[in-house]
Amino acid sequence: MKILVTGCNGQLGNEMRLALDGRQAETFFCDIDTLDLTKPFELEQFVEKNQITHIVNCAAYTSVDKAEDDRLSAANVNINAVHNIAMSALRHNIRVIHISTDYVFEGNACVPYEENMPAVPRTVYGKTKFAGEQTLISECPNSIILRTAWLYSSFGNNFVKTMLKYGRERNEISIVYDQIGSPTYAADLAAVIICILFEREWKPGIYHFTNSGVCSWFDFAKTILNIAGIDCRVNPILSSEYKYRTPRPSYSVLNTKKIRREFNVEIPYWLDSLQRCMKLLNLDK
Ligand SMILES: NC(=O)c1ccc[n+]([C@@H]2O[C@H](COP(=O)([O-])OP(=O)(O)OC[C@H]3O[C@@H](n4cnc5c(N)ncnc54)[C@H](OP(=O)(O)O)[C@@H]3O)[C@@H](O)[C@H]2O)c1
Repeated sequence: MKILVTGCNGQLGNEMRLALDGRQAETFFCDIDTLDLTKPFELEQFVEKNQITHIVNCAAYTSVDKAEDDRLSAANVNINAVHNIAMSALRHNIRVIHISTDYVFEGNACVPYEENMPAVPRTVYGKTKFAGEQTLISECPNSIILRTAWLYSSFGNNFVKTMLKYGRERNEISIVYDQIGSPTYAADLAAVIICILFEREWKPGIYHFTNSGVCSWFDFAKTILNIAGIDCRVNPILSSEYKYRTPRPSYSVLNTKKIRREFNVEIPYWLDSLQRCMKLLNLDK
């Protein structure tokens, strides 16, 4: 196997680096500075020269608010780059694992979203990610799409790091309690990607993966501060009290039954995974 991991400087890309370490595969890790996926010729040359057999696409335009003002850049990475990957994959018979998001859904359900439920993205980020999914499915249907949500890691910027920063700087913070989801440790997602890559049978399609259990952003924030032993008051507020630039899903819970069944994976509980991540950061009290 010759595996190309794109977006390797991001949260998931870094976790993929760790997860692939010592595995029976030749690995190539690239980010925009070494391989800009929006340039089809560069990608084509790279996969041909290195005889890539698998691509794990962790690259994306992930800033939900910035995407509203910079639609072109978001579309370029989340749609055009995926099209370029699909074209190279078709030409060279490459297996693709592409990462997508809960933002493809409207976010107002009251039962966990299944893979085949209608996508109704409400933001530029969600719309471009959904268009990327559709591009990949139509152009390279042998691909695997993994939708995830509320991703954090010891790498990069994320909610965990933001809460730790605010918690140390302020006496109190206000966090919404009417948005529900499943915090997901990118290391656990990387572990599942490894299972999929090394599984004997390749099973194309869309899958949902998050850590198990649910909470609100308020609960998540309180738990992060508790684990770190930071004394900061957390006030629960409604989304309507917080000035969001873009609509946020009130319900982001994804149904993970399909991935558990097809790949026989045990999904860790979000609190256990958060504790593992914070231990790694030496932040558990
Ligand atoms: N973060 C979340 O909460 C979340 C939730 C649901 C789903 N997801 C999905 O999960 C995946 C991984 O997310 P993440 O949080 O690991 O993202 P991330 O930390 O933002 O990493 C994405 C990486 O892709 C790179 N990139 C951007 N444009 C590129 C290009 N043209 N060519 C090559 N690389 C490029 C970025 O570089 P720059 O930083 O220089 O732009 C960055 O290093 C994404 O598909 C995302 O949509 C994330």
